[in-house]
Amino acid sequence: MNNTGIKASLNTLRSSVKKVGFICAMDCELDAVTKLFDSVTIKKVGPTDFYLGKICGIDAVAAKCGVGKVFAAICAQTMILTFSPDLIINTGVAGNLSKSLKIGDVALSSAVVQHDMDTSPLGDPVGLISGINMTEIKSDLDSALVMQSALNEIGINSEIGVIASGDQFVASSEKKEFIKETFGAISCEMEGASVGHVCFVNGVRFLVVRALSDDADGASPDDFPAYCVKVSENSSKAIYAFMKALS
Ligand code: ADE
Repeated sequence: MNNTGIKASLNTLRSSVKKVGFICAMDCELDAVTKLFDSVTIKKVGPTDFYLGKICGIDAVAAKCGVGKVFAAICAQTMILTFSPDLIINTGVAGNLSKSLKIGDVALSSAVVQHDMDTSPLGDPVGLISGINMTEIKSDLDSALVMQSALNEIGINSEIGVIASGDQFVASSEKKEFIKETFGAISCEMEGASVGHVCFVNGVRFLVVRALSDDADGASPDDFPAYCVKVSENSSKAIYAFMKALS
């Protein structure tokens, strides 16, 4: 994407995004966001604490949803109804499925899929979400392009592609290959497609931004939580660079 394209995306976002929501599954992922807030107030809605403040002068709301698609959906719907963000970014760590990426690099969504959604015995394609009749839900391309440009400027490698979510920590070559082959996904995690599904039905822009923590093949680091803290630093840098570009 050339500079003119990025400028057009940036202008679109600057005119339409006044408040950004962040949804993370784990504490280490949320910390990577909330440490960027200038000051924070906390509002509890239902089971969730929402952190309110500004990042680089732009209104932001952030929450830890918990692990998995149901918690992510609860959080996204509550955030939309209560705080009306113009864009929701689901951020955190993920497993790598791409040959162009390595651990520490960042996967950005062009679309999301639910790899564990399967009504194929009824004649549907694997992954089809009945009700909206889609397998892939497209995410916000302007946000992905601006995020990628911001990442380039700070020297972090990234790729834009399909991100696959399911209620499973992917840790075998068989599962990894299934998700790659079936959906052409570059990364796997457990919440992004759920956030995307909720955003889609509510007409809210969304993007999934995931720093890669493992190769989704069973060779994950022994101390995964400690490793998440380390890798989440790149999510934090990415978010800061994105919000700075928007400001
Ligand atoms: N989050 C980080 N790594 C993951 C993996 N391998 N599978 C699902 N979610 C993840």
